[in-house]
Amino acid sequence: MSLTRRTFLHRGGILTAALALPQGVHFPQPPKPQRPAPKFRTTLDSSSLARFVDPLPIPAVAQPVDHHPSPANPSIKLPYYRVAMRQIESKVHRDMKPTRLWAYGSSSPGPTFDTRSSQGILVEWANELPTQHFLPIDHSIHGAESDKPDVRTVVHLHGAKAPADSDGYPDNWYVPGKSALYHYPNQQDAAMLWYHDHALGINRLNVFAGLLGAFFVRDEVEDALNLPGGKYEIPLIFYDRVFDLEGQLNYPVSGDPKSPWLPEVFGDALLVNGKLFPYLDVEPRQYRFRVLNGANGRFFHLSLSNRQTFHQIGTDQGLLPAPVELKRVILAPAERADLIIDFSASAGEQIIVRNDSFDVMQFRVATKKNRSQGNPARDASTLPAVLRPVPKIPESAAVNTRMLTLVEVDDLVQRPVTMLLNNAHWKMPVTENPVLDSTEIWSLINTTDDSHPIHLHLVRFQILDRRSFDVSNYWATGKLKFFGPPIPPDPAEAGWKDTVRADPGMVTRIIIRFEGYPGRYVWHCHILEHEDNEMMRPYDVIAKP
Ligand code: C2O
Ligand code: CU
Repeated sequence: MSLTRRTFLHRGGILTAALALPQGVHFPQPPKPQRPAPKFRTTLDSSSLARFVDPLPIPAVAQPVDHHPSPANPSIKLPYYRVAMRQIESKVHRDMKPTRLWAYGSSSPGPTFDTRSSQGILVEWANELPTQHFLPIDHSIHGAESDKPDVRTVVHLHGAKAPADSDGYPDNWYVPGKSALYHYPNQQDAAMLWYHDHALGINRLNVFAGLLGAFFVRDEVEDALNLPGGKYEIPLIFYDRVFDLEGQLNYPVSGDPKSPWLPEVFGDALLVNGKLFPYLDVEPRQYRFRVLNGANGRFFHLSLSNRQTFHQIGTDQGLLPAPVELKRVILAPAERADLIIDFSASAGEQIIVRNDSFDVMQFRVATKKNRSQGNPARDASTLPAVLRPVPKIPESAAVNTRMLTLVEVDDLVQRPVTMLLNNAHWKMPVTENPVLDSTEIWSLINTTDDSHPIHLHLVRFQILDRRSFDVSNYWATGKLKFFGPPIPPDPAEAGWKDTVRADPGMVTRIIIRFEGYPGRYVWHCHILEHEDNEMMRPYDVIAKP
């Protein structure tokens, strides 16, 4: 952090404390931390490990175990899945000892759901974890006080248009031995969704422990495009972790045993589908990669070592209007990119996927006739010039515009103590209450020095623009003084989104139609350390009067 940033944010903090929160920024002291304080452990230097010695794991596809009546219409039976959360051991790298993880099913990432639009499913999410957490809980964080059970989970299907009681509200956690039955109607376009833990106050730890997985919705529009499928369509879930010398997860902590929370957690170990430096054997043809940034806080900037271009055909909530040619894809936590990479000109080559300048994984492109694989099948897949129309929602459709600030609150020595949305804490009354089927514009006024990926549950939205503003002037007067013209979203963001980068010193405007179901949902920053420490708010979708 630069000096400017500290000074700057501190000013924000004072204003927040003095004006916007009359009760002051107040953190209850933990009553009596009985548990041993989290300790610093020596970190494994992942760059010392051999590269590309493990094949890329591809999570198994989840299979229904039965059919059960639909909660919406008991005369219809829906595929019923059961997924248990369990503690497992997994080899993250050939030369590391097995790592203790928490998994959905028997792998982390958990099984991939492959579902059809409009074909609802039921999932019983069973908590079969141990009763002790193995990562450092901060009992001074709201919702994680010492009187709460250590191990609590609740599953959110990110990007799903799901009824509120199946959405994984952060307070609806349950303990080992309990489960929840969720209904996903899948009344939405083809897209890559993902499921992950969402328990209040320890979400960052549960996801870091391994509780995440991919979920595809497919439909006829996508089918008709003849995109690479089957073994030529591969999920790539990227995230970073820190390991200790025993190969165990080492979640970083502050120096204060009473509040181990850190505002940002970055690991040096970059994993893909749960492996460090994996390789993937590919044929010299087109592939479709469904890419997710599943990290707690790291932004990924991915490119290929041979500098070849590739095409992005979809974003968080499905297909783009047309492919976008790229050399680098940027993904904030929770964002997805649907990519087509053509290896047909690279037979016999080895191509490395890099995050900035760091190696992450390797593609080994077969020669045209590779004996071990037989003759690769002819590539009949296409890259259509037109994908799926994404009609622009006109600004005039919005019945309401909400001005929502993103704020970092610092303590007297200018360390961040919490992050807030619109100066409000999680527990404060709901302030965002759109009417079902109405359209609103949300202006995310980012007064901090960080980019925050903002996610709304239930809905999809479009990015209108981003515009730089004078933050000091805003703190002094409450008025927005812009520095330049509004900047339209990148072509790769110009589709349906559910998570948007709210960049520092910018007002990011999104337009949202609140379709689906009435009820209580949440919106939050998807940097999980921020989300856990108050950068999350409930919102209500109000049934039409
Ligand atoms: Cu990816 Cu509230 O979640
Ligand atoms: Cu944030």
